[in-house]
Amino acid sequence: MNHPKVRKAVFPVAGSGTRFLPATKAMPKEMLPVLDKPLIQYAVEEAAAAGIEQMIFITGRHKRAIEDHFDRNPELEMLLQAQGKTKLLDALRTATPPGVNFVFIRQPEPLGLGHAVLCAQAVVGDEPFAVILADDLIDAQPGVTAQLVQSYEQHGASVLGVEDIPLADTGKYGIVATQALSARDERVTHIIEKPAPEEAPSTLAVVGRYVLRPEIFDELARTQRGRGGEIQLTDAIARRVSQGEVVAHRFSGTRYDCGSKAGFLAANIAFGRKQGLID
Ligand code: UTP
Repeated sequence: MNHPKVRKAVFPVAGSGTRFLPATKAMPKEMLPVLDKPLIQYAVEEAAAAGIEQMIFITGRHKRAIEDHFDRNPELEMLLQAQGKTKLLDALRTATPPGVNFVFIRQPEPLGLGHAVLCAQAVVGDEPFAVILADDLIDAQPGVTAQLVQSYEQHGASVLGVEDIPLADTGKYGIVATQALSARDERVTHIIEKPAPEEAPSTLAVVGRYVLRPEIFDELARTQRGRGGEIQLTDAIARRVSQGEVVAHRFSGTRYDCGSKAGFLAANIAFGRKQGLID
């Protein structure tokens, strides 16, 4: 069946990043580099590789650095050119993938991930879209967004990127109960935000990758503040689950939770090894 193409991706980057203070006092956590590239650039490259044409950032205070990062810097380009540093010049220019455009929307208050996604409604309109949380850095080939888009094209349903986590960690994630559909796809029958291990229906956790059908916006508009006083994306997804409209995709790839210090460190070590910088 032919489903509308996924052409847009939403990057919620308006969180406060408290776990990385003081590094994130004046700089967004999404600009933290793994080796020489900010987290947000890995996320944008992953989206571009999945055929996404419009990158929509939901920003807050202190997020100017992200806008500047995806803008040209003619003075720096001229300097590198004059110095003959062509490799660096290339790296600078390719930070912005060709053929994509960037939209920045301000989230007036950090009212939660669900609220951040709702801020994108006017720009996304009535079409499916990806949501990418840049602090989940996933090393995968093809990229996880491309894997989710493929699953969306097959089922026409909203798709959540999921992976098995240790039982002790269920309180950090949205957790799903599922019924098998195919090797990597499962129909979601239940979803619950950050359950204690004894309440978790499984150890299958939703990580920072989604492809959502536009109906989610109506659900988000109706969603009251939930856990932590925030408007939770999980609560809105739960209502689509009750319509039987959500699929979980067990992506292939290695995830680094770069929102935590340990995950961020692990990503730097793994990427450093891959590039032969350390043993
Ligand atoms: P997190 O739960 O990781 O929160 O948000 P955070 O504030 O960024 O980080 P910590 O926990 O204080 O260290 C998940 C994602 O949702 C975005 C964040 O930017 C992050 O990508 N977010 C969260 C928003 O865009 N707006 C919000 O109101 C809340």
